[in-house]
Amino acid sequence: MELDLLGQHADRAYPILSSLITPRPIAWVSTRHDDGSVNLAPFSYFNVFGSRPPLVIYAPGNRPDGSPKDSARNAEQTGEFTVSLVSPEQTETMVATAASLPPGESEAERLGVEMASSSVVDPPRVAGAPAALECRVHSVQRIGQNRLVLGIVHRVHVRDELIEPETLRIRQELHTPPGRMGSPDWYCRTDSLFEMPRPE
Ligand SMILES: Cc1cc2nc3c(=O)[nH]c(=O)nc-3n(C[C@H](O)[C@H](O)[C@H](O)COP(=O)(O)O)c2cc1C
Repeated sequence: MELDLLGQHADRAYPILSSLITPRPIAWVSTRHDDGSVNLAPFSYFNVFGSRPPLVIYAPGNRPDGSPKDSARNAEQTGEFTVSLVSPEQTETMVATAASLPPGESEAERLGVEMASSSVVDPPRVAGAPAALECRVHSVQRIGQNRLVLGIVHRVHVRDELIEPETLRIRQELHTPPGRMGSPDWYCRTDSLFEMPRPE
């Protein structure tokens, strides 16, 4: 079957692409609202795009009325956000933070997610996360109803047991965040690893 995502099948673009392009990593993004409250929400339109400088992007779509989600508006206003990565045990709590609350009402507070202070940015990170990134906004690209928030990673926090202190190698076998699969509610485990050396 051939589909025209800009024409006849435009209303299926989200479920089709989100179910085909899988698994996706999940960014648990915190930002600070201008009333001081902390906003926490998951985004699976997320990835790392470079290392010099260390670049990550997450992409909140606009709300149906065209207004930005809090995670986009706050990041653009304050220039800062954190990304916490999610442990398997945190999956349910992470999904629960996708609830749409009125701006200024904190998902973290409502669900009792403990936050830890960041070192160089204002928004706190999820205290129990396996790893967290402190980011400053590079730019926000608006493309139709999508907003791409480009961030430079200034600090990384990693749970001690996940990193070898001498080599700084991440113990991949111990870092198994859930992956986002098909729309809307499918996820995968990432603890079934294999290694395949690439050709010279
Ligand atoms: C696992 C997961 C991944 C999500 N990924 C995205 C995403 O990439 N883009 C998006 O706009 N919404 C995504 N959502 C929905 C947002 O988390 C949800 O709209 C949330 O209320 C946004 O919160 P905010 O308005 O506080 O920023 C996702 C939800 C879940 C559960």
